[in-house]
Amino acid sequence: MSIYWSSVVRGLTPYVPGEQPKLANLVKLNTNENPYPPSPKVLEALKREAAEGLRLYPDPNSERLKEALAEYYGVTPKQVFVGNGSDEVLAHAFLGLLKHAHPLLFPDITYSFYPVYCKLYDVPYRIVPLTEDFAIRLEDYTQPNGGIIFPNPNAPTGRPLALGPIEELLKRNTDSVVAIDEAYVDFGGESAVGLVDKYPNLLIIQTLSKARSLAGLRVGYALGEAALIEALERLKNSFNSYPLDRFAIVGAVEAIKDQAYFEETRAAIIRTRGVLVENLAALGFTVVPSAANFVFARHPERDGGELFQRLRDKSIIVRHFRLPRIDQYLRITVGTDEQCAMLVEALEEILSREPSGASF
Ligand SMILES: Cc1ncc(COP(=O)(O)O)c(C=O)c1O
Repeated sequence: MSIYWSSVVRGLTPYVPGEQPKLANLVKLNTNENPYPPSPKVLEALKREAAEGLRLYPDPNSERLKEALAEYYGVTPKQVFVGNGSDEVLAHAFLGLLKHAHPLLFPDITYSFYPVYCKLYDVPYRIVPLTEDFAIRLEDYTQPNGGIIFPNPNAPTGRPLALGPIEELLKRNTDSVVAIDEAYVDFGGESAVGLVDKYPNLLIIQTLSKARSLAGLRVGYALGEAALIEALERLKNSFNSYPLDRFAIVGAVEAIKDQAYFEETRAAIIRTRGVLVENLAALGFTVVPSAANFVFARHPERDGGELFQRLRDKSIIVRHFRLPRIDQYLRITVGTDEQCAMLVEALEEILSREPSGASF
């Protein structure tokens, strides 16, 4: 705290990202990164760009990337917005499209950045509890609202929502924007991209951080009707003309174009997830059905905080949220086969010992 802080800063509770520890031999399964490197074509493009382009500002409108995304998703470039990671795209959506007199609705268990944006931008919001088994119940969203947002598949549960209920939500909420955060959709969810032309209140947010292995490049995007995209552009151009640098633009274009590599790596992750779920179930874990590159699991007899700590002692980092309803769960990113085997082996060893009884 400092006397120089504004009242805005004093009132903030910033989001805390998963840790990025600098330990040797770490098995890092805590921030849903992709265990595989990005497409080799991305790396070649980055090298070319380093040699040729850095003296100059990047294209403020990231035209090439918007064209590549528009072609990939079957929309027009005017229906595409790009930003510095989907976190930045989400931030603009909260301020530009989801802030109204009625409260924004989102689930109680969801991406924990949402309430942070609400507080930053003074967006009125109402938290809508998920069912006992972490499902979204449509009826709960038929109340006056200034917008609706949730991830699909949800985070940190991994539970997907089918396209039918999403379309129903869009029909019932024509006066407000329904924003679907599809950060993990490529690992088994149903994307609502095909509905963009049909529903002017639909905004889809995606990222290259997960299925395209580019968390370090920081590229996210939104797809929606041109008028929604224009709102995001107006904000972006009032804040930072160049949210995507030259590396991000060329790297993202190559990642989107290399369909074969994308299919290969995501299929590997989906396969590994299946094995991981089986192995966790064999150890007695209850695992929420996941359509994401992580699983959400709890052991009925062991404390979630203790399991997290014991894994950490073995340099295996997963995510544990000290939050109501989910503090007994571990969120485990699907790594390589080898990483997941190490995790399962470590859990086996931990479960073979008596619980410590200490509080974690
Ligand atoms: C649901 C969800 N949305 C958005 C993001 C942000 O991703 P990025 O800013 O890397 O695009 C994350 C990151 O973990 C996430 O879990």
